[in-house]
Amino acid sequence: MSKEAKLAVGGQEYSLPIVEGTEGELGIAIGKLRDTTGHITLDDGYGNTGSCVSNITFIDGEKGILRYRGYPIEQLAEQSTFIETAHLLINGELPSRDKLREFSDRLTDNAYLHEDMRYHFESFPVTAHPMAILSSMINASSCFYPGLMGPANRERFDTHAARLISQVRTIAAYSYRKSKGFPTIYPKRNLKYTANFLHMMFSQPYEDYELKPEVVKALDLIFLLHADHEQNCSTATVRMVASSQANLFASAAAGVCALWGPLHGGANQAVIEMLQAIHDSGDDGSRFIQAAKDKDSGARLMGFGHRVYKNYDPRAKIIKAACDRILSGLHISDPLLDIAKHLEEQALNDSYFVERRLYPNVDFYSGIIMRAIGIPVEMFTVIFAIGRMPGWIANFKEILDNPKSRISRPRQIYMGATERQYVPIEERP
Ligand code: ACO
Repeated sequence: MSKEAKLAVGGQEYSLPIVEGTEGELGIAIGKLRDTTGHITLDDGYGNTGSCVSNITFIDGEKGILRYRGYPIEQLAEQSTFIETAHLLINGELPSRDKLREFSDRLTDNAYLHEDMRYHFESFPVTAHPMAILSSMINASSCFYPGLMGPANRERFDTHAARLISQVRTIAAYSYRKSKGFPTIYPKRNLKYTANFLHMMFSQPYEDYELKPEVVKALDLIFLLHADHEQNCSTATVRMVASSQANLFASAAAGVCALWGPLHGGANQAVIEMLQAIHDSGDDGSRFIQAAKDKDSGARLMGFGHRVYKNYDPRAKIIKAACDRILSGLHISDPLLDIAKHLEEQALNDSYFVERRLYPNVDFYSGIIMRAIGIPVEMFTVIFAIGRMPGWIANFKEILDNPKSRISRPRQIYMGATERQYVPIEERP
């Protein structure tokens, strides 16, 4: 295969190098395009733009394949844990026992928030969305660790990364408790990552939350399945901010903001709200499917469709099976699960969805699991953010480790007014 592409512009032909990825993906490198041709590319929504070369995560959206550092998501979901997977994503390899212990110990040592940070929680109204609190508090953390200020640097990166992975969970639990008017619960050194989060969310000073292994496992799986997903909106945001050499916490706080929207991580909350509204209206999903196909209705089938997957999202398959398992294990019958399954069946047999290759994504069933284990709906996207933290950190590190990293700065095609003369206010119509 030719390693060059030919581009004809204005009667002249130009050669553009082709970059081939390890999985055979092909990209036309256009880094010199403007210098040589005077043109830039235009790609609204970046659907065809490779913004970087990365070694972290591989997705084949046509075949429904997802791999972290080469390992299929199905194998990691079955055999790994969130923390082992976090190590894999950030450091590139599955850890030995000793390395895993070292990684976990560092997380344990860095789980506690600076005591003064607790006062910041007091200033948020009880109605504040936990995603707003999360992004604010992650950013505020920069103030408490002077080593983080100034340009990002490799020194003490492992400690800062551990702090972020560990404290995002503490901040998340504190923000939930603030919204409930409950006192904060400190992390316990003897509990593992996910169990500790549940403890901080649901224990009371007078009574420890009863940790059920199947609940801990289900939430750990949700974290693991969200841990990375190549250049999605929030990860691309983290890389964009990191490219200016902003610190790790500032970059991650920006990622949380990007994740919040309902077209991205906020979809998990939107799915449950959609299912609840369908349920409350007495519909079994059939009427809603019609509305979702009608562009004037304003309705979308939330949890369906994906920019990259044009096949079943492999995470959705795993989550759907886990959903059945956990609900039956906890003896819960959720009418929203029945509606979700009915919607899926109808959509997968409807030409509108089939022709557009719209399949369930990771958010379609995850909310039903979270509901079953007692996570409130406004915390769903926060759970996603906790899970995605290792992926954001791995992407940040990739920029930090690359001596050739440049600031990200896209161009545009200007379509506004051409030059005109300033009109004093008294002369304006
Ligand atoms: N319901 C109904 N129609 C849809 C849906 C949906 N969920 N998703 C896409 N479509 C339609 C579009 O209207 C469009 O139709 P048209 O060709 O007739 O104009 C066509 O399918 C292509 O959709 P786009 O919006 O161009 O797809 P895009 O790649 O830009 O967006 C997105 C992907 C945002 C995920 C979209 O499918 C969507 O809004 N889904 C619902 C929200 C959601 O679940 N988001 C979570 C994504 S996963 C994640 O971020 C973790």
